[in-house]
Amino acid sequence: MRPTKNTLILVFGFLCIYSCTPKKPVDREGFRQEKAARELKRIVPADLMLKGEELGEEIVSATASAYLNTLKRAIVENGISGAIDFCQLSASGITAGLQDSLGVTISRVTDKPRNPANVLSESDKAIWEAYAYVPENLDGQIQEYNAESLIYTKPITIGSTLCLNCHGQVGSDITPENYSLIKSRYPNDEAVNYEVGNFRGMWRIIIPKKAVVSKL
Ligand code: HEC
Repeated sequence: MRPTKNTLILVFGFLCIYSCTPKKPVDREGFRQEKAARELKRIVPADLMLKGEELGEEIVSATASAYLNTLKRAIVENGISGAIDFCQLSASGITAGLQDSLGVTISRVTDKPRNPANVLSESDKAIWEAYAYVPENLDGQIQEYNAESLIYTKPITIGSTLCLNCHGQVGSDITPENYSLIKSRYPNDEAVNYEVGNFRGMWRIIIPKKAVVSKL
C-alpha cells in the first residue's frame, strides 16, 4: 500500500511535535551513579555469593574433618566416656584459627540440642525447615545474613553408628553409665534417639563480606 498524502502529513507533524518538545537537562552525575549502582548489583553479589559459597564449603570440610579426627582419636585413647569432653567444636582447635584469621563464626545448630547454646536461632529456622522438608536438598547454601555478612549452612546427618554411641537410644546404643555422664554435663540434653541417616543438625558459618572480598 502506498502512503497517502494525509498519512505523510500526520507522520511529519508528529515528528515535528516530538522533536520540538523541550528536553529536560540531562542529569549526568545522577545517571552515572545509577549506572554504577546497577553494575555493582549485577556483578558483585554474584561473585560474592559464589566465592562465599566456596569459602563456606572449605571451612565446613576443614572443620568437620578436624573435628571428626579429634573425636575418633579421643575415643581410641579414652573410650566413649572419655571422649564426651572432646565433642565441643572448639576441641578441634581449628575454629579459633579461622575465627582469628577470617573473622568467621563457626557453629553447629539443631532443633534438639545437647548443649543449649546450639539451639536454632529465629533466623536459622527458615533454612532449617527447608532442609527438613526436602530431605534430598542436603547441599550447602549461601545466603545474605545482613549488610556485613553472608551465612553458609550445610546439613549434618548421623553418618555412622559411631554417632549412636552418644546420640542413639539410651540403654541400647548409649550405655546407662555414659548417659549419666552426658546428663551430668548437659542436664537438658535432647540429642538422643537418632538413627543412622537422620538429619541431626546444620553447620552455620557466618562469613564477613570483607573476608570474601579479600579472596576475590
Ligand atoms: C563421645 C560422645 C559423642 C559422639 C560419639 C558424638 N557426639 Fe555429637 N555431641 C556430643 C556432645 C557431648 C555434644 C555437645 C557438645 C557441645 O557442648 O557443644 C554433641 C553435640 C553435637 C552436635 C551439636 C548440636 C547439639 O546437640 O549440641 C551435633 C550436630 C552432633 N553432636 C552431631 C554428631 C554426629 C553427626 C556424630 C557422629 C559423627 C556425633 N555427634 C558423635 C557427644 C557425642
